[in-house]
Amino acid sequence: MKVMVTGGAGYIGSHAVLALLDAGHEVVVIDNLVTGFDWAVDSRATLIELAVEDPAVRDVLREHDVKAIMHFAGSVVVPESVTDPLKYYRNNTAASRSLIESAVAAGVAHFIFSSTAATYGTPDKVPIAEGDPTLPINPYGMSKLMTEAMLRDVAAAHPINYACLRYFNVAGADPAGRSGQSTVGATHLIKIAVEAATGKRSSVGVFGTDFPTRDGTGVRDYIHVSDLADAHVAALELLAAGPEQSHILNAGYGRGFSVLEVLDAVDRVTNLTIERKLEGRRAGDPAELVADNAAILAALPWRPKRADLDGIVRDALAWERKLVEMGK
Ligand code: UFG
Repeated sequence: MKVMVTGGAGYIGSHAVLALLDAGHEVVVIDNLVTGFDWAVDSRATLIELAVEDPAVRDVLREHDVKAIMHFAGSVVVPESVTDPLKYYRNNTAASRSLIESAVAAGVAHFIFSSTAATYGTPDKVPIAEGDPTLPINPYGMSKLMTEAMLRDVAAAHPINYACLRYFNVAGADPAGRSGQSTVGATHLIKIAVEAATGKRSSVGVFGTDFPTRDGTGVRDYIHVSDLADAHVAALELLAAGPEQSHILNAGYGRGFSVLEVLDAVDRVTNLTIERKLEGRRAGDPAELVADNAAILAALPWRPKRADLDGIVRDALAWERKLVEMGK
């Protein structure tokens, strides 16, 4: 199938491009290259430097006869969304509205949206299921939830179906070393920890040691980016097989690791002892976010292949070392 990937030069998008190409699909990437890198896009894909909100997107969709869109482009830093909410409502919500309008105008049949566990806010219980309340506690989560709502309404009115994948904590890198997380100034735990392992930073702060969890630190459901990318390809096939139906699915493994367990894994994989600095809680961090993944396992033939935490860390570390070699 011909698929447009927005944000295909970014972290998760570039892995989706690889998964689509490896599965035999044809890919057109649009990316404004503000946070993404042109070198992150596999050369088998066509890369067009274009913003998702640009009306020229519909010409690209028509020219390339695109049947499906995977929409990754957007802003992703939760604390920044609190200080600059309008950036998030512009880059995530308003830009998605324009893209969906282009999709409808060009007769695109399927839309896969990169949503987030942040749509749930602070959950009453874990694991979190798709039917649980969606009460985001930051503009990032709300900007994504609003896009989910637009898709629901548009799919009821036009011949398009959609899948929203609500990601838990995405980590790791392509096991073949073709892509990884290259974001400058990343804030995510595993990225930070492997940066410490390669000497880019001297220590890792542990944000909060008094959570009601097994060791007092925050627990998250870390999902390997390549498994997540494969889930997108499987979701695309599901949308094509059942055009009347749309889906909202958690993308996680249904198990959590604490911050200290993650840092222990990094120590094991690197044979180093990463220095930990015990600090206070980061504003807005819930104690535990773990997916109930029964729905995605029932809906898709997809099965996690890379859930092993040490393997996730190993792949993230290999990519981090490659970035150092590349001078990035
Ligand atoms: N953490 C540290 N030290 C760090 C970085 C993180 O202790 O240097 C801790 C956090 O406090 C948290 C855990 O590691 O307990 C994971 O933090 P991340 O920043 O890696 O990820 P988050 O869970 O904050 O963010 C994820 C997604 C967001 C999504 C959010 C929903 O990356 O896109 O969950 O709450 F919005």
